[in-house]
Amino acid sequence: MARSVVVGSGSYLPARILTNDDLARMVDTSDEWIVQRTGIRQRHIAAEGEFTSDLATHAARRALENARLTPDDIDLVIVATTTPDQTFPATAVAVQTKLGMTHGAAFDIQAVCSGFVFGLTTADSMLKAGLARRALVIGAETMSRLLDWTDRTTCVLFGDGAGAVVLAREEGDDPNASGILAARLRSDGRHQDKLYADGGPSSTGTVGHLRMEGKEVFRHAVGMITDVIEDSFALTGMSAATIDWFVPHQANIRIIDASAKKLGIADEKVVRTVALHGNTSAASIPLALSVAVSDGRIRKGDVVLLEAMGGGFTWGAVLLRW
Ligand code: ACO
Repeated sequence: MARSVVVGSGSYLPARILTNDDLARMVDTSDEWIVQRTGIRQRHIAAEGEFTSDLATHAARRALENARLTPDDIDLVIVATTTPDQTFPATAVAVQTKLGMTHGAAFDIQAVCSGFVFGLTTADSMLKAGLARRALVIGAETMSRLLDWTDRTTCVLFGDGAGAVVLAREEGDDPNASGILAARLRSDGRHQDKLYADGGPSSTGTVGHLRMEGKEVFRHAVGMITDVIEDSFALTGMSAATIDWFVPHQANIRIIDASAKKLGIADEKVVRTVALHGNTSAASIPLALSVAVSDGRIRKGDVVLLEAMGGGFTWGAVLLRW
């Protein structure tokens, strides 16, 4: 039986840090308001001339190093992003070139904040189907370029960054072996107008700015997240008690805590990194994963639950044994 196993992880944050106090000098907000409503203390901002593909390539190299592999070992590159370098070609193709690869396939996935979960599930399916052997799955964003920096209701929430994992096809019948155990993806386009960019190549010919009805997003988030997680638990026989780590999309500490509480996941199993980098959309899960791997929390054999919800709405969960 074929399984997809995470064999390496890595992440990258741009050098420039923008604190809540910095933001308070730009719009009518305060460190106290931002921390209390979101848990965010700072975010990183890409330098001029630093693109999503640059962030993605840094994270990919670190994941490859962690896996003790080279670009030659990879035959699939998936980049989940809402902020591509260009409308086309795919940012994944730029990453492929920056890694010095001329073989394999590379493409982008657009599912906004759920992009990493959608990308991981796509790679898992392709590996299991024998279409590739080793994949780089990357979440990378320069959200700072999509923000309206005069809108305090959105500009305080997001940041730039990238995270990556290497996923490898392995064979064997051991039910306790490492690998992806379950994945559940959902979307419902009736909610498009609650979180979107007010531009696009086919509509306005511009990139647009991020717009959001924060309260509406919040209202739907916890229910959607817990639904797909409960499905994944039912599918695998796992539960809040049997997982080792909960690595949610890092959008907002209140959504993270409310989801964990509703599911009955113990506080010490929850990985929280949102304070350090804000909502980095598709990059946030692999960023949090890489932090928890490098500080020694996530170890081989641990059961890890990932989830995300974002624009569309899209949402999903992946349950895996590290
Ligand atoms: N600083 C100070 N005051 C602000 C700010 C700010 N940055 N932004 C809004 N306010 C004000 C509002 O104008 C409002 O003032 P008023 O009462 O005088 O009208 C007041 O604060 C309360 O605003 P609300 O929108 O009601 O604040 P709320 O408690 O809902 O918090 C927030 C807003 C943080 C956006 C919340 O709705 C939220 O977390 N939503 C989820 C959104 C999210 O995380 N999206 C990420 C993308 S989706 C995803 O990744 C899951």
